[in-house]
Amino acid sequence: MSKHIIAHDYQVSRKDRRASNHHNSFLIWFTGLSGSGKSTIANLVEKALFESGIKTYSLDGDNIRKGINSDLSFAPEDRTENIRRIAEVSNLMIDAGLVVLAAFVSPYKKDRENIRTIVKDVNFVEVYINTSIEECERRDVKGLYKKARAGEIKNMTGISAPYEAPERPDIEIKTENESIEDSVKRIIDFVTPKLQLNNE
Ligand code: ADX
Repeated sequence: MSKHIIAHDYQVSRKDRRASNHHNSFLIWFTGLSGSGKSTIANLVEKALFESGIKTYSLDGDNIRKGINSDLSFAPEDRTENIRRIAEVSNLMIDAGLVVLAAFVSPYKKDRENIRTIVKDVNFVEVYINTSIEECERRDVKGLYKKARAGEIKNMTGISAPYEAPERPDIEIKTENESIEDSVKRIIDFVTPKLQLNNE
């Protein structure tokens, strides 16, 4: 960053925005294979929060990879940049007082660690949607696994590119053993205490 960029002292702070919303702001990050159920679960968590008056916003491949990150591929360095930009956007939204829900494959451990650094540990909840590659491939909601097997898609996570599973996520959801309703409830129960305003 240039040494000539000097932060302006804003009259309205993150703390003010949180107080005005009557809740804390932070990032709930969903990681897992394509087709694991990240967006489905994230959407239901957002709906439950929104209906209880929480200011939320969801980020996923549809609104990010088609817009701000439309210049990025699935090569490892582009995935790193994809996640870095999403973390920076999330950080601005946390500043704006929102609870941000982000659903991205985010296969590399170092990239997920970088999110934690950007938004700060205290504002980061990591949810691992653990669905086996066999099950994701069986579901193949978008038909991508079939294409990857046929060699039409390169660098497909789980097939021809790695997925580094989180070792100590805040929440792990095994979608093959747990209902969507129970999964959503577990996430809501975990984040509810974090919504309380603190004196930061
Ligand atoms: S990430 O790896 O950079 O975090 P991101 O979550 O943005 O990935 O995008 C993943 C989505 O893009 C998948 O759900 C799938 O629909 C689509 N996709 C297209 N090509 C690939 C690929 N090679 N690997 C994984 N997902 C892909």
